[in-house]
Amino acid sequence: MADIQKAVELILPCTSGVAFTGAGVSAESGISTYRDPGGLWDTYQEGASGGMLAVLASYPEKAPEILGGFFDRLKGAQPNVGHLALVEMERMGYIRTVITQNVDSLHRDAGSAQVYELHGNIYRLRCLECQRKVLFNRELYFELMDELIKELRGFSISEIVELLPRCERCGGAMRPDFVGFGEEVQQFREALSASLSCDLMLIVGTSGVVYPAASLPEGARSKGATLIEINPKESDLTPLTDLFLRGTAGEVMPELVAALREGRDVQDCSCT
Ligand code: OAD
Repeated sequence: MADIQKAVELILPCTSGVAFTGAGVSAESGISTYRDPGGLWDTYQEGASGGMLAVLASYPEKAPEILGGFFDRLKGAQPNVGHLALVEMERMGYIRTVITQNVDSLHRDAGSAQVYELHGNIYRLRCLECQRKVLFNRELYFELMDELIKELRGFSISEIVELLPRCERCGGAMRPDFVGFGEEVQQFREALSASLSCDLMLIVGTSGVVYPAASLPEGARSKGATLIEINPKESDLTPLTDLFLRGTAGEVMPELVAALREGRDVQDCSCT
């Protein structure tokens, strides 16, 4: 594929790349995206502007079904070849940091060393009183969430807070540490600094419509980084990119890694 060769030429000189990812990178792990057909915000459009809480408030009678479906999709999810290819690109020295909007922890599970999770991590619980954060073991986490959903009669914030697990230190309610709409994103300073100092930004599987996350590619570009996007369809970020690779992360990423290996070998041979 000619575009893959072009991507290889652009990536080979890079040493401090950033991967900026969204829900699309986890789609092939069985976690549906938000805005594609069948996704949460496609089905419940209140979510696009108000997030999960707005959806639950609009459909209180469906709260157990919506939350149950959300957690069920996470339960069996494993990193896919797209996540693993990013780890490989880190080992090869092209990527240093992953900045993700995903809360599913799959980049960490895959083995990426430096991951900034702008929208939090669903497996971490945060105490609403003392702000202590605890990363939960998955089995225990899903047990707690299944229990909560079983007890849920409809949806009200006070009912949910009542059912949340308690903090061992202060007894406060512990909520999943994801970023809801209107809440401050996490690790943004670190993510911005990585974006402003990278030589490559690989944008994988995001529609690029949620800010401030979606401002990072513009920052990288303003400092001269090369921007390459991987997505089955154009996004709001496509006009900023130097190269658009059409396809899913699971299709394109392994092909890209294989071509980079070949390109690097050829480069090594021609140097000796
Ligand atoms: P979206 O659902 O908005 O966009 C998913 C993107 O992934 C689209 O551009 C798809 O074309 C692309 N895509 C789908 N399947 C893919 C695949 N297999 N490989 C590669 N790309 C694929 O998801 P995000 O951009 O991540 O925020 O959404 C950003 C934020 O909006 C989320 O973090 C969430 C949501 O509201 C919060 O909840 C705060």
